Amino acid sequence: MQPAKRLWLVFAIGGTSVSSYLGCGADEVAPATFPGHEAGADAPRDEGASPDAPSNPDLDDSARTLYPTLEALYQGNQGIYRTCGPNNGVCHNDKQFPNLASVGSVVENIDLPCNVLRDKPGEIHNLCERRGDFLQLDHGDAGAAADAGDARRIEIGYVEDIEPDAGMPVLPRHWRMVLKETPPDDVSTFRATIVRGPQDEVHPVTGVGVSLTVDPEKRNAVRIDIDIEIPDDGGFPPGAFLAVWLMRAGTPNDRTAMQLGDPNRDGTFGATLGGRLVKPGDPAKSYLLTRLTDPKAGPLMPLANCCHWSAASARALWCWVASLDPQGTNALDAIDYAKCPPGPPDTVVYAGQGPNCETSGLCPTRAKGVLTADPTWSNIHPNIIQANCASCHSGGAAAAAQLDMGTSDGAWTALIERGLVVPHDAAGSLLYRKIDPATCGPLSCMPKSTSSASFQPLEERARLLIKRWIDDGASK
Ligand code: HEC
Repeated sequence: MQPAKRLWLVFAIGGTSVSSYLGCGADEVAPATFPGHEAGADAPRDEGASPDAPSNPDLDDSARTLYPTLEALYQGNQGIYRTCGPNNGVCHNDKQFPNLASVGSVVENIDLPCNVLRDKPGEIHNLCERRGDFLQLDHGDAGAAADAGDARRIEIGYVEDIEPDAGMPVLPRHWRMVLKETPPDDVSTFRATIVRGPQDEVHPVTGVGVSLTVDPEKRNAVRIDIDIEIPDDGGFPPGAFLAVWLMRAGTPNDRTAMQLGDPNRDGTFGATLGGRLVKPGDPAKSYLLTRLTDPKAGPLMPLANCCHWSAASARALWCWVASLDPQGTNALDAIDYAKCPPGPPDTVVYAGQGPNCETSGLCPTRAKGVLTADPTWSNIHPNIIQANCASCHSGGAAAAAQLDMGTSDGAWTALIERGLVVPHDAAGSLLYRKIDPATCGPLSCMPKSTSSASFQPLEERARLLIKRWIDDGASK
């Protein structure tokens, strides 16, 4: 397999629209960085990952063994990236990822902004939001914005058309502009301009037929009402330029459009978070990792190859980012697991390799269900059996040991009928003995590992739940 195919997986995560990674359709050119708009230019340094992501020594051992370096993570000596899976259309388009031709090209993606090609401002992730343009309020003369000494500048979060039908069939005329700070009460007495930097006037707001007032419904907002009268000669009416310009606001990679600080409108001005596609030294702020673990950021990756990606691969990627120096000059050196902060968050079910993985219903990657403390089959089947066993034990006659545990009813019936579960007797049940590290040695321990990696037992909590469930009578 060509390196480009293996690399696709990691880089697809940097892909910026659903259509581009589903279809490999968009050229992922290196995005431009706007002067003064680097995400994180004013980011607080905040080390460490979320506290709900404990480090796991076993996981580090297998990650360290399998993936001592970034190159090993790509080479996938345990079958990671062995294939692009069944989804050929996704993975075959090497030509559309010209910058993914070698392992070294990953280094070029370090410290880049993310979501640059998303064309819907509302879909931009907080880690990828960039600094917005500013509303400048001053009393200067038209055209003198640059030297207006008394100017006050407030970052623009987003703009919304507040009476969507009122402007039609001409153009939307009534707008709310949501700001980072509360505007002055007498905002209507100011001249208003959109600026990007102190010397960089972008667009006038106030002018013929435009009124600017404090928004009565929102504290941090101004209302912009535009009077658009079509001239008798049918020409382009004054005010229409502003309306058109407000309509185009927020397209991240269009420098001619107004830049927004909170295009997804959730109240966070994401540039202050300091996120990047790959943020050297800070995996928690690297959107690449977010796409692997946070379903809210978009469809969980990997969309394809799911069966060849694991908790250990994700840990390796996390620690690789954590190991990076600010310039990424050590990107190809050994990954420093010893200094790796806890993470990534344990929120994803990894399908695990197995002969039936692709058909077990575990791909594409899914968010983890929540394993509760209930020793019930309805808790155990989806959250333990389906998540850890179905990659091999599904598919009817094709299931490992012909034990199909792919569905809740089927699994329960098979376990009871074959005597693998003896109600009220966990110690005498083969199911339990095979998952308990204390007793499974002479048998074969489950979940069986698919590689030379050592046996990774289910977490203790899960094993105890199964024990309780059997001892309580193993009801469905
Ligand atoms: C990587 C593939 C794989 C995974 C994952 C896996 N198994 Fe297995 N399992 C097998 C194979 C192969 C056999 C048959 C050979 C053997 O017993 O080692 C088997 C056998 C078994 C048996 C014995 C069935 C019999 O009739 O003797 C049980 C019970 C079992 N597995 C339970 C589990 C449970 C529970 C899990 C999840 C916690 C699991 N397995 C995960 C591959 C797997």
